[in-house]
Amino acid sequence: MDQTPDVPFVPTSEEVVRRMLQIADVKSSDVVFDLGAGDGRVLIIAAQEFNAKAVGIEIRKDFVTNIEKKIKELKLGDRVSIIHGNFFDVNISRADVVTMFLLESVNKRIRPKLEKELKHGAKVVSHEFKVSGWKPDYFERFVCSDGSKHDLYLYIMPPEKEQ
Ligand SMILES: C[S@@+](CC[C@H](N)C(=O)[O-])C[C@H]1O[C@@H](n2cnc3c(N)ncnc32)[C@H](O)[C@@H]1O
Repeated sequence: MDQTPDVPFVPTSEEVVRRMLQIADVKSSDVVFDLGAGDGRVLIIAAQEFNAKAVGIEIRKDFVTNIEKKIKELKLGDRVSIIHGNFFDVNISRADVVTMFLLESVNKRIRPKLEKELKHGAKVVSHEFKVSGWKPDYFERFVCSDGSKHDLYLYIMPPEKEQ
């Protein structure tokens, strides 16, 4: 039985994913971790369009099976991998870039793990929800082609603390 997800599945639109990866200046030498990989779109765009390595962590087995299928179909096995697990329990110290579309309350709970495990200079990009207690290095309200607005927060480790 899967553990209960901390956040429901709501996909980030592909336009927003691209912008998140641009904001983080993802390079081919980077390893991108998506915390809560959903349908795997962040992993696939990071690998196909930014030539990065991408690792997803996803708690739902059905999503993991679907992502494994996509990795095979798209022949991305050398660059994309998916871990079936809880992102609170998986070591993320290899990440150069971490992407998240969670909730403010979950960002708050995962903050100590990010502070403990991520290397200096690693980047965290959060869609919609800030990491409270951290001062963003960059913030943008991205406007999609359909007019929807998306708050994007970039943090570079170790981020400046705010009260
Ligand atoms: C809002 S969706 C975001 C999906 C994808 N990252 C995106 O931006 O399109 C959050 C995902 O996190 C997964 N999730 C929730 N809690 C989790 C946990 N503790 N560990 C791993 N995955 C989790 C959910 O099943 C869901 O697929």
